[in-house]
Amino acid sequence: MATELRTLMDDAFRYIRTKTNATPSVGIILGTGLGGLVQEIHKDTVIDYSEIPHFPVSTVESHKGKLIFGSLAGKQVVAMQGRFHFYEGYTMKQITFPVRVMKLLGVQTLLISNAAGALHPQFRRGDIMLMTDHINLLGDNPLIGPNDESLGPRFPDMSEPYSKELLASAEAIARDLSISVQKGVYVAMPGPNLETRSEYRFLRTVGADAVGMSTVPEDIVAIHMGMRVFGVSIITDECFPDTLRPVTLEEVIAIANKAEPKMTAIMKELVARM
Ligand code: HPA
Repeated sequence: MATELRTLMDDAFRYIRTKTNATPSVGIILGTGLGGLVQEIHKDTVIDYSEIPHFPVSTVESHKGKLIFGSLAGKQVVAMQGRFHFYEGYTMKQITFPVRVMKLLGVQTLLISNAAGALHPQFRRGDIMLMTDHINLLGDNPLIGPNDESLGPRFPDMSEPYSKELLASAEAIARDLSISVQKGVYVAMPGPNLETRSEYRFLRTVGADAVGMSTVPEDIVAIHMGMRVFGVSIITDECFPDTLRPVTLEEVIAIANKAEPKMTAIMKELVARM
Protein backbone atom coordinates (compact mmCIF):
# COMPACT_ATOMS: atom_id res chain seq x y z
CA MET A 1 0.00 0.00 0.00
CA ALA A 2 1.26 3.47 -0.84
CA THR A 3 2.29 5.58 2.12
CA GLU A 4 0.84 9.02 2.64
CA LEU A 5 4.14 10.54 1.49
CA ARG A 6 3.98 8.59 -1.77
CA THR A 7 0.43 9.81 -2.36
CA LEU A 8 1.50 13.44 -1.85
CA MET A 9 4.45 12.93 -4.21
CA ASP A 10 2.20 11.43 -6.87
CA ASP A 11 -0.21 14.39 -6.60
CA ALA A 12 2.66 16.86 -7.15
CA PHE A 13 4.09 14.75 -9.97
CA ARG A 14 0.74 14.54 -11.76
CA TYR A 15 0.25 18.31 -11.54
CA ILE A 16 3.72 18.97 -12.95
CA ARG A 17 2.99 16.54 -15.79
CA THR A 18 0.05 18.74 -16.86
CA LYS A 19 2.62 21.51 -17.44
CA THR A 20 5.63 19.67 -18.88
CA ASN A 21 6.71 16.27 -20.13
CA ALA A 22 10.33 17.04 -19.24
CA THR A 23 12.41 14.19 -17.82
CA PRO A 24 15.40 16.03 -16.33
CA SER A 25 18.31 13.85 -15.24
CA VAL A 26 19.91 16.59 -13.13
CA GLY A 27 18.36 18.52 -10.23
CA ILE A 28 19.81 21.77 -8.89
CA ILE A 29 19.33 23.46 -5.49
CA LEU A 30 21.25 26.69 -4.97
CA GLY A 31 22.14 28.49 -1.77
CA THR A 32 21.95 32.07 -0.52
CA GLY A 33 23.43 34.52 -3.05
CA LEU A 34 24.35 31.65 -5.37
CA GLY A 35 21.58 31.75 -7.97
CA GLY A 36 23.82 32.46 -10.98
CA LEU A 37 23.57 28.95 -12.38
CA VAL A 38 19.83 29.43 -12.83
CA GLN A 39 20.55 32.32 -15.24
CA GLU A 40 22.53 29.87 -17.39
CA ILE A 41 19.55 27.55 -17.88
CA HIS A 42 17.67 27.80 -21.18
CA LYS A 43 14.23 27.79 -19.64
CA ASP A 44 11.37 25.74 -21.10
CA THR A 45 8.81 25.68 -18.29
CA VAL A 46 8.60 27.63 -15.02
CA ILE A 47 6.10 26.59 -12.33
CA ASP A 48 5.39 28.54 -9.13
CA TYR A 49 5.75 26.40 -6.02
CA SER A 50 2.37 27.77 -4.90
CA GLU A 51 0.66 25.98 -7.82
CA ILE A 52 2.11 22.55 -7.07
CA PRO A 53 0.09 20.39 -4.68
CA HIS A 54 1.82 19.91 -1.29
CA PHE A 55 4.89 21.95 -2.23
CA PRO A 56 5.99 24.10 0.69
CA VAL A 57 5.64 27.82 0.06
CA SER A 58 7.14 30.68 1.94
CA THR A 59 4.40 33.06 3.00
CA VAL A 60 6.61 36.10 2.49
CA GLU A 61 8.32 34.90 -0.67
CA SER A 62 5.68 32.83 -2.44
CA HIS A 63 6.21 34.91 -5.59
CA LYS A 64 9.85 33.86 -5.62
CA GLY A 65 9.66 30.09 -5.27
CA LYS A 66 9.82 28.56 -8.72
CA LEU A 67 10.60 25.20 -10.23
CA ILE A 68 12.52 25.77 -13.45
CA PHE A 69 12.74 23.22 -16.26
CA GLY A 70 15.16 23.64 -19.13
CA SER A 71 18.54 22.72 -20.51
CA LEU A 72 22.02 23.43 -19.22
CA ALA A 73 25.15 22.47 -21.15
CA GLY A 74 22.99 20.26 -23.35
CA LYS A 75 21.35 18.33 -20.48
CA GLN A 76 17.78 18.44 -19.26
CA VAL A 77 17.71 19.94 -15.76
CA VAL A 78 15.24 21.03 -13.10
CA ALA A 79 16.25 23.76 -10.66
CA MET A 80 14.66 25.09 -7.49
CA GLN A 81 14.66 28.86 -7.37
CA GLY A 82 14.19 29.37 -3.65
CA ARG A 83 14.92 26.70 -1.07
CA PHE A 84 13.61 25.90 2.39
CA HIS A 85 15.52 25.94 5.66
CA PHE A 86 14.85 24.18 8.96
CA TYR A 87 15.16 27.49 10.85
CA GLU A 88 12.22 28.92 8.91
CA GLY A 89 10.00 26.42 10.69
CA TYR A 90 9.52 23.90 7.89
CA THR A 91 9.59 20.24 8.81
CA MET A 92 12.33 18.04 7.41
CA LYS A 93 9.69 16.36 5.23
CA GLN A 94 8.61 19.72 3.77
CA ILE A 95 12.20 20.80 3.10
CA THR A 96 12.94 17.59 1.20
CA PHE A 97 9.60 17.13 -0.60
CA PRO A 98 10.86 18.81 -3.81
CA VAL A 99 13.81 16.37 -3.91
CA ARG A 100 11.37 13.45 -3.70
CA VAL A 101 9.36 14.87 -6.59
CA MET A 102 12.52 15.49 -8.63
CA LYS A 103 13.26 11.77 -8.40
CA LEU A 104 9.82 10.92 -9.81
CA LEU A 105 10.52 13.29 -12.71
CA GLY A 106 13.69 11.36 -13.59
CA VAL A 107 16.46 13.12 -11.67
CA GLN A 108 19.45 10.87 -10.94
CA THR A 109 22.03 13.49 -9.96
CA LEU A 110 21.47 16.33 -7.51
CA LEU A 111 23.72 19.40 -7.40
CA ILE A 112 23.53 21.45 -4.18
CA SER A 113 25.27 24.63 -3.07
CA ASN A 114 25.30 26.58 0.17
CA ALA A 115 26.96 29.46 1.97
CA ALA A 116 29.05 28.27 4.91
CA GLY A 117 31.45 29.49 7.57
CA ALA A 118 35.08 28.29 7.65
CA LEU A 119 36.18 26.04 10.52
CA HIS A 120 39.33 24.70 8.84
CA PRO A 121 42.05 27.20 9.81
CA GLN A 122 43.43 27.36 6.27
CA PHE A 123 40.11 28.22 4.64
CA ARG A 124 39.41 31.87 3.78
CA ARG A 125 36.34 33.93 2.89
CA GLY A 126 35.61 33.53 -0.80
CA ASP A 127 37.01 29.99 -0.98
CA ILE A 128 35.07 27.21 -2.65
CA MET A 129 34.82 23.92 -0.74
CA LEU A 130 33.79 20.74 -2.50
CA MET A 131 31.85 18.67 0.03
CA THR A 132 33.38 15.25 0.77
CA ASP A 133 31.10 14.33 3.68
CA HIS A 134 28.76 15.83 6.26
CA ILE A 135 27.79 15.76 9.92
CA ASN A 136 24.11 16.12 10.74
CA LEU A 137 23.68 18.20 13.91
CA LEU A 138 20.24 19.51 12.95
CA GLY A 139 18.69 17.36 15.66
CA ASP A 140 16.17 15.91 13.21
CA ASN A 141 16.09 13.69 10.13
CA PRO A 142 13.75 13.66 7.12
CA LEU A 143 13.58 9.84 7.14
CA ILE A 144 12.04 9.57 10.63
CA GLY A 145 8.63 7.90 10.45
CA PRO A 146 7.21 5.06 8.37
CA ASN A 147 9.51 3.99 5.54
CA ASP A 148 8.15 3.42 2.05
CA GLU A 149 10.26 0.60 0.62
CA SER A 150 9.26 1.69 -2.90
CA LEU A 151 11.20 4.92 -2.29
CA GLY A 152 14.24 3.55 -0.51
CA PRO A 153 15.57 1.39 2.33
CA ARG A 154 14.76 1.81 6.03
CA PHE A 155 18.45 2.13 6.90
CA PRO A 156 20.16 3.83 3.95
CA ASP A 157 23.91 3.48 3.65
CA MET A 158 25.81 6.74 4.11
CA SER A 159 29.32 5.70 3.11
CA GLU A 160 29.17 7.91 0.01
CA PRO A 161 26.85 10.86 0.71
CA TYR A 162 28.66 12.89 -1.97
CA SER A 163 29.59 11.06 -5.17
CA LYS A 164 33.30 10.25 -5.39
CA GLU A 165 33.02 10.19 -9.16
CA LEU A 166 31.49 13.69 -9.33
CA LEU A 167 34.02 14.96 -6.80
CA ALA A 168 36.90 13.68 -8.95
CA SER A 169 35.33 15.19 -12.06
CA ALA A 170 34.87 18.57 -10.29
CA GLU A 171 38.50 18.55 -9.14
CA ALA A 172 39.66 17.89 -12.70
CA ILE A 173 37.42 20.70 -13.96
CA ALA A 174 38.74 23.12 -11.32
CA ARG A 175 42.29 22.32 -12.48
CA ASP A 176 41.35 22.79 -16.14
CA LEU A 177 39.70 26.15 -15.38
CA SER A 178 42.52 27.23 -13.01
CA ILE A 179 40.06 27.64 -10.13
CA SER A 180 41.51 26.70 -6.75
CA VAL A 181 39.18 24.68 -4.54
CA GLN A 182 39.22 23.24 -1.04
CA LYS A 183 37.66 19.93 -0.02
CA GLY A 184 36.07 19.18 3.31
CA VAL A 185 33.36 18.11 5.71
CA TYR A 186 30.21 20.22 6.13
CA VAL A 187 28.35 20.31 9.40
CA ALA A 188 24.70 21.39 9.49
CA MET A 189 23.47 23.37 12.47
CA PRO A 190 19.81 24.40 12.91
CA GLY A 191 20.43 28.15 13.26
CA PRO A 192 19.10 30.75 12.78
CA ASN A 193 21.69 32.38 15.01
CA LEU A 194 25.31 31.94 14.04
CA GLU A 195 27.29 29.86 16.48
CA THR A 196 29.20 30.89 19.59
CA ARG A 197 32.98 30.71 19.83
CA SER A 198 32.66 27.59 21.97
CA GLU A 199 30.33 25.98 19.45
CA TYR A 200 32.81 26.70 16.64
CA ARG A 201 35.59 25.13 18.71
CA PHE A 202 33.36 22.11 19.30
CA LEU A 203 32.43 21.78 15.61
CA ARG A 204 36.08 21.92 14.57
CA THR A 205 36.99 19.34 17.23
CA VAL A 206 34.38 16.87 15.98
CA GLY A 207 35.85 17.01 12.47
CA ALA A 208 34.01 19.67 10.47
CA ASP A 209 35.70 22.03 7.99
CA ALA A 210 32.71 24.27 7.26
CA VAL A 211 29.40 25.05 8.98
CA GLY A 212 26.03 25.97 7.53
CA MET A 213 22.28 25.54 7.99
CA SER A 214 21.16 23.56 4.94
CA THR A 215 21.98 20.84 2.39
CA VAL A 216 22.08 17.85 4.77
CA PRO A 217 18.30 17.11 4.69
CA GLU A 218 18.22 17.23 0.89
CA ASP A 219 21.31 15.02 0.67
CA ILE A 220 19.85 12.40 3.03
CA VAL A 221 16.63 12.14 1.03
CA ALA A 222 18.51 12.04 -2.30
CA ILE A 223 20.70 9.19 -0.99
CA HIS A 224 17.61 7.42 0.38
CA MET A 225 16.18 7.38 -3.14
CA GLY A 226 19.39 6.23 -4.82
CA MET A 227 20.46 9.53 -6.35
CA ARG A 228 24.06 10.71 -6.44
CA VAL A 229 24.89 14.11 -5.00
CA PHE A 230 27.47 16.80 -5.60
CA GLY A 231 27.72 19.56 -2.99
CA VAL A 232 29.63 22.83 -2.90
CA SER A 233 30.06 25.29 -0.03
CA ILE A 234 31.02 28.89 -0.63
CA ILE A 235 33.00 30.05 2.38
CA THR A 236 31.45 33.38 3.33
CA ASP A 237 33.01 33.98 6.74
CA GLU A 238 35.72 32.71 9.06
CA CYS A 239 34.55 30.99 12.24
CA PHE A 240 37.83 30.89 14.12
CA PRO A 241 37.13 31.08 17.87
CA ASP A 242 40.21 33.13 18.79
CA THR A 243 39.77 35.84 16.15
CA LEU A 244 36.00 35.86 15.71
CA ARG A 245 34.41 39.07 14.42
CA PRO A 246 30.70 39.84 14.08
CA VAL A 247 29.26 38.83 10.69
CA THR A 248 26.35 40.44 8.90
CA LEU A 249 24.00 38.84 6.36
CA GLU A 250 25.02 41.60 3.91
CA GLU A 251 28.67 40.50 4.12
CA VAL A 252 27.73 36.85 3.68
CA ILE A 253 25.70 37.66 0.56
CA ALA A 254 28.38 39.99 -0.85
CA ILE A 255 31.09 37.32 -0.50
CA ALA A 256 28.77 34.65 -1.90
CA ASN A 257 27.99 36.82 -4.92
CA LYS A 258 31.67 37.42 -5.53
CA ALA A 259 32.67 33.75 -5.41
CA GLU A 260 29.55 32.56 -7.20
CA PRO A 261 30.83 32.77 -10.84
CA LYS A 262 33.64 30.30 -10.04
CA MET A 263 31.15 27.83 -8.58
CA THR A 264 28.76 28.32 -11.49
CA ALA A 265 31.57 27.60 -13.97
CA ILE A 266 32.47 24.35 -12.18
CA MET A 267 28.87 23.17 -11.92
CA LYS A 268 28.08 23.97 -15.54
CA GLU A 269 31.13 22.08 -16.77
CA LEU A 270 30.31 19.20 -14.42
CA VAL A 271 26.92 18.90 -16.11
CA ALA A 272 28.54 19.17 -19.55
CA ARG A 273 30.90 16.26 -18.77
CA MET A 274 28.19 13.95 -17.38
N1 HPA B 1 27.44 29.48 10.68
C1 HPA B 1 28.45 30.33 10.60
N2 HPA B 1 28.76 31.01 9.53
C2 HPA B 1 28.01 30.82 8.45
C3 HPA B 1 26.96 29.96 8.45
C4 HPA B 1 26.66 29.25 9.63
O1 HPA B 1 25.71 28.47 9.69
N3 HPA B 1 26.43 30.02 7.20
C5 HPA B 1 27.15 30.88 6.49
N4 HPA B 1 28.12 31.37 7.25
